[in-house]
Amino acid sequence: MIYLDNAATSFPKNEVALRRAMEIYLALGASPGRGGYDRAVEAEEMVSAVRREVAKFFNAPAGSRVCFAANATDALNTLIQGLYGSATHIISTSLEHNSVLRPLRHMERLGLQVDLIGFDEAGYINPQDIRLKLRPETKAVIVNHASNVLGTVQPVAEVGDMLRDHGAALCVDASQTAGLIPLDMQKDNISAVAFTGHKSLRGPTGIGALVFGPDFELAPSRFGGTGVDSSNPYQPDEYPMRLESGTQNMLGILALGECLCDLGIPKMKMILDNEMLLFKQLYEALSSLSGVSVYGGHDLRRQVPLLSCSVKGMTAADVGAVLDGDFDIAVRTGLHCAPLVHKGLGTAPLGTVRFSLGPQTTKENITAAIHAMEQIAFSAG
Ligand SMILES: Cc1ncc(COP(=O)(O)O)c(C=O)c1O
Repeated sequence: MIYLDNAATSFPKNEVALRRAMEIYLALGASPGRGGYDRAVEAEEMVSAVRREVAKFFNAPAGSRVCFAANATDALNTLIQGLYGSATHIISTSLEHNSVLRPLRHMERLGLQVDLIGFDEAGYINPQDIRLKLRPETKAVIVNHASNVLGTVQPVAEVGDMLRDHGAALCVDASQTAGLIPLDMQKDNISAVAFTGHKSLRGPTGIGALVFGPDFELAPSRFGGTGVDSSNPYQPDEYPMRLESGTQNMLGILALGECLCDLGIPKMKMILDNEMLLFKQLYEALSSLSGVSVYGGHDLRRQVPLLSCSVKGMTAADVGAVLDGDFDIAVRTGLHCAPLVHKGLGTAPLGTVRFSLGPQTTKENITAAIHAMEQIAFSAG
């Protein structure tokens, strides 16, 4: 199989990091924060070390909080529902995934006011559109760092800069960029980052986190055992217990830590550069194919290696089925959980065919994908 669905989840995973994590996990035999004996203390120390690693990865300000979550969706829910009570107005974008849009819609029912700004023909938001929507009571601006439909990387540094005098918190969904494009929370005035471990970080599913600055308060939206302060009938006020209940995903946390340790800015740059070389080849070939429309990829300097396309006369699902059945190529088709992007592109309700590359994608894979699309477009035309 030629796997070109890395934006859904990366494949193959970072095997060395996962094996290392498994070895530690098998030897551990204790739950972090759930005992005073040596093994439990050691487990807690390991979890704290991964929290520090996550904070370092995003250059979070001193005293930042890192709360582990099951994935980006979980982290974004913790963020958005955690703003309940303190936020009356939030701005976001129509490039968002449902993991932002649905919690926002849910919160709207509870009285939150939400403004969504659109994107231009190339797939980028304009920070000035955010400025026009800002109100004195705007608490947060939530921006997708890179669209999972178009791959376009959004100008979060510019948004952060613009918000410096306002006080609204910039919150970034880094699901499609963590592991590919560094984010610098301090430099870019970012108050919170939500991410998932199973995409470009090449970790397992089931682990993600929310990182947020020391001045950013969130209310708990889930309640339960925290291992400490058990006589308190209410959720403890202290972080991370305030936002983390129940036994942690220790194996996932260890694996996330190993994957993060394996990546630094130079390595991420090298991975992105290699993937973008192949992406350019795919983008140029598909863009010149008659009957194929390509969405995203118009500015390679502001792009992650994924693109959407459609073939005239065929549904996205049919193109995906032929790629799979006749060419053994795995891609994602449909709306990609981002319905407003397709509304903007005019590709709703059936969506697009999405090709997404990973560090293991080869030149031969891309040549095969181009060849398959040539045949599909030719037969459809
Ligand atoms: C931009 C974006 N945000 C959020 C998510 C949700 O990630 P997860 O399914 O790991 O919660 C995805 C996953 O596709 C995504 O692409």
